[in-house]
Amino acid sequence: MGQTPADGDRDIEYTMRLQRFLARAGVASRRGSENLMTAGRVRVNGQVVTELGSKVVPDRDVVTVDGVECHLADEHAYVMLYKPAGYVTTMSDPQGRPCVASLVPTDRYPGLFPVGRLDTDTTGLLLFTTNGDVANAMLHPSSHVWKHYVALVRGVPSRHQLQMLRDGVRMPDGVAAPAKAQLLAADDPAALPVAPEGVPYNHAVVSLSIHEGRKHQVKKMLRSIGHEVVRLHRDEFGPLRLSGLMPGQWRPLTAQERSAVESQAPRNNTKREVG
Ligand code: URA
Repeated sequence: MGQTPADGDRDIEYTMRLQRFLARAGVASRRGSENLMTAGRVRVNGQVVTELGSKVVPDRDVVTVDGVECHLADEHAYVMLYKPAGYVTTMSDPQGRPCVASLVPTDRYPGLFPVGRLDTDTTGLLLFTTNGDVANAMLHPSSHVWKHYVALVRGVPSRHQLQMLRDGVRMPDGVAAPAKAQLLAADDPAALPVAPEGVPYNHAVVSLSIHEGRKHQVKKMLRSIGHEVVRLHRDEFGPLRLSGLMPGQWRPLTAQERSAVESQAPRNNTKREVG
């Protein structure tokens, strides 16, 4: 069984907890894998391992369950969630608030984490993955990954105010990069998630595409032109479109979606993990 890799080691060996390895190999959930271990059904290099903290080197150790050899699934997981309002974008919340982790299959895909964040009251497309390279590539400012939002705002922005968004609006924490902005007609299907019962009097729905990801960016941009956001929804994230889901539901990415997001990090998609 493996050592934790030491800094400066030339041939670094990546270790992983055995129960995590088993879950990642699709043998059982992490809890189920622990049960298999304590039942004495798991061997590493021929030796029964029951201790739950035990680690393995996935590239080197031979792991068997009931004599059958297990291998890590060699693909990363990618999951699209339709985030409902009222959930914090975190995998655990010390304050016990509802968090998005409870809505995605972390047992089936251990190591899943959200790519970026949506505010608690924001709904829409949230991507989860086990692939840190793809997450970094999709979030890095230099990647200019476009995100599309629809916002129900108080008041009706004028042409001049929309142009301010397109030119790069001045916000309290700096100037935003030029955005794509337009008003949506009340009967545009894209407006439905923020105005399911129609657009209230003296309100408007703004379609906004940005490629930055500062905290509360859309709300700050719209406030800076004088319009408070009442509801906010994201329906596009880079190459992904929110589709086939109701609020609170998730689905794995399709093969085309997977390759589209993986092409954001073309040179480094290998799965390496220190467990
Ligand atoms: N911008 C915001 O203000 N909130 C979000 O949740 C996402 C973008």
